[in-house]
Amino acid sequence: MKLSVIGLGKLGSPLAAVFASKGFEVIGTDLNSKYVEAINAGVAPVDEPRLQELIGAHRDRIRATHDVADAVASTDITFVIVPTPSDAATGRFSNAAVLGAMEAVGAGIRRKEGYHLLVITSTVMPGSTGGEIRAALERHSGRKVGPTLGLCYNPEFIALGSVVRDMLQPDMILIGESDARAGDLLEQVYSASCDNRPVVRRMNFVNAELTKISVNTFVTTKISYANMLADICDRLPGADVDVVTQAVGTDSRIGKKYLRGAIGYGGPCFPRDNVAFGALARSLGARAELAEATDALNRYQVERVLGAVEARLTGSGSVGVLGLAYKPDTSVVEESQGLALVGRLLDLGRHVVAYDPMALTLARMVLRRPFETVATAADCVRTASLVVVMTPWPEFRDIPEDAFHRTGARMTVIDCWRVIPKSVARFADVVYLGQGVARREPART
Ligand SMILES: NC(=O)c1ccc[n+]([C@@H]2O[C@H](COP(=O)([O-])OP(=O)(O)OC[C@H]3O[C@@H](n4cnc5c(N)ncnc54)[C@H](O)[C@@H]3O)[C@@H](O)[C@H]2O)c1
Repeated sequence: MKLSVIGLGKLGSPLAAVFASKGFEVIGTDLNSKYVEAINAGVAPVDEPRLQELIGAHRDRIRATHDVADAVASTDITFVIVPTPSDAATGRFSNAAVLGAMEAVGAGIRRKEGYHLLVITSTVMPGSTGGEIRAALERHSGRKVGPTLGLCYNPEFIALGSVVRDMLQPDMILIGESDARAGDLLEQVYSASCDNRPVVRRMNFVNAELTKISVNTFVTTKISYANMLADICDRLPGADVDVVTQAVGTDSRIGKKYLRGAIGYGGPCFPRDNVAFGALARSLGARAELAEATDALNRYQVERVLGAVEARLTGSGSVGVLGLAYKPDTSVVEESQGLALVGRLLDLGRHVVAYDPMALTLARMVLRRPFETVATAADCVRTASLVVVMTPWPEFRDIPEDAFHRTGARMTVIDCWRVIPKSVARFADVVYLGQGVARREPART
């Protein structure tokens, strides 16, 4: 079976590589020539663990072109994975790029005789696939969705930094299908491409579209709940958010995953999915308070950390920010809490020195405000008067302890993720956020 993938970005290139690694012949397309050239040179277009390994090992089965119509006409199934950015005014996802791709997709289908399956993988608002996307597909292809043209909505549940692993071992394959033939064919692809045997849920378009954003918004609700607990624990002497969440999560109705009090969620999906979910509820006249509260609590997290910093920073010393990526193992800084903290500290006139193993270049490009960066975590600690851990990169556990040592006044470490070893307390005042100490005066030596 031959597959085409329209959009070779953070999601599309790993999907193309995973399919190629499982024996499918894959043709990818992208508007970005660099991505097309990279694939044809056997080079991963984006940074993602294991992507280079897969593309390198399966070059003979994956190629890229600018010609979308040709890619579609030469294959049996087409996956559309183009951006669906949030509309700043409404919070809803825009289908403009998906609809923009339909003209060339339709032209490709016109050239084919047999059955073709089109799969929308981009995240879209409920009502889109069976509404304007289907209408554009039918208009441009000259065919009705039915016996010779199948349509599915099939979003991926992945996290950046583990996209390949998540695609090989998903919990669930979610398929919104126009009819059984379309769903059967797509299920066949996944039974060949997954290493595990995931649950497959098949349903109509709108249920699948709603399921996709419901999964993300339920997870964000859980994160905001844990962060609300952490905020309480910051202020409640003797309280420890980890002790509480681990006990709460033991209840099988709740579960431990993503129930970790720390700082807010970021990245390209969680924040915007929550906002879109609220917008959807409001547009239907349903109540949106839960989504709105989750989002409001998330926006507050940076202020919570800033409060802990300002309460402890004496004089004009510089603040070290350890971690700018929105999570470990990625260079993505979209909606990153670390970058937001840098922005807020600069607003207050603080000197900031930051370190991140992967995200420094992107962070500078996105923030467009001057702040100092250093080459190692130890340099960040050595340079700053106070250091905040904003991303739980594993290497932060191994910062040499002597970096924390000062002659004279001890430095302060605010650890939002509780990754700095307790032994560092010999040299510095270590404040583990969420452990009933954030507002207390630092120990004096
Ligand atoms: N990145 C994530 O973590 C993630 C997770 C779940 C869902 N999604 C969804 O997947 C979709 C894609 O996200 P992404 O992160 O891969 O985006 P991305 O921006 O990294 O990649 C999208 C690519 O599509 C290309 N493109 C746009 N229009 C095109 C066209 N007409 N023809 C060919 N290529 C075109 C762009 O040049 C870009 O390279 C979005 O709807 C997003 O919401 C992303």
